[in-house]
Amino acid sequence: MPDMTFPDVITAIHQRKSVRKYSDAAVPESVLDDLIYCATCAPTGNNRQPWRFVVINDPATLSACAEIIPAGKMLLSCKQAIVFCVEFENELLRFYGWLDASAAVENLLLAAQAHGIGGVWLGVAPRIERIKAISALLELPPNIEPMAVVALGFPAETATRKRKPKPAQIWKNRWGNP
Ligand SMILES: Cc1cc2nc3c(=O)[nH]c(=O)nc-3n(C[C@H](O)[C@H](O)[C@H](O)COP(=O)(O)O)c2cc1C
Repeated sequence: MPDMTFPDVITAIHQRKSVRKYSDAAVPESVLDDLIYCATCAPTGNNRQPWRFVVINDPATLSACAEIIPAGKMLLSCKQAIVFCVEFENELLRFYGWLDASAAVENLLLAAQAHGIGGVWLGVAPRIERIKAISALLELPPNIEPMAVVALGFPAETATRKRKPKPAQIWKNRWGNP
């Protein structure tokens, strides 16, 4: 992993924005490894750690993913994406797996921000047709399903935050109680 100083976590959270345009440079393997390790540091129900990862860096497979995810056209120009998958044995663990994998995606996006890498979460679950199409594309075994795809790259756009202001009021103990 390159020797670099990272911003603190609060700064990374405040600065993270979805990035959908990337330079031509690929993200180094060592950085991808660290991003995936950070993803696996997320909280997980019963410490099950059901997340599984498929890194895609083959242009034809990235293009095929872009066909499956209508708002995923940035996959046509990015050099790599990570498919967050979930391993599960029953329907309850499937839902828990989505929660666990969602926490892992956010960890990865924040870690990417800290590394100077841009990324965007592309929704797969709970859309059955996308789950089926990506499972077929990646030849996933029956007990593994894709939950999300994250496109990654060095940012070629400056995303500006348009988040709503902080909530005007936070209630205490009961809704409406200041
Ligand atoms: C479940 C989920 C699915 C998403 N799917 C897409 C997508 O298909 N395409 C896309 O460009 N962004 C997608 N996003 C990113 C959101 O559009 C983005 O997070 C939102 O607009 C807020 O912007 P920000 O991430 O820059 O704060 C998705 C985000 C989530 C959490």
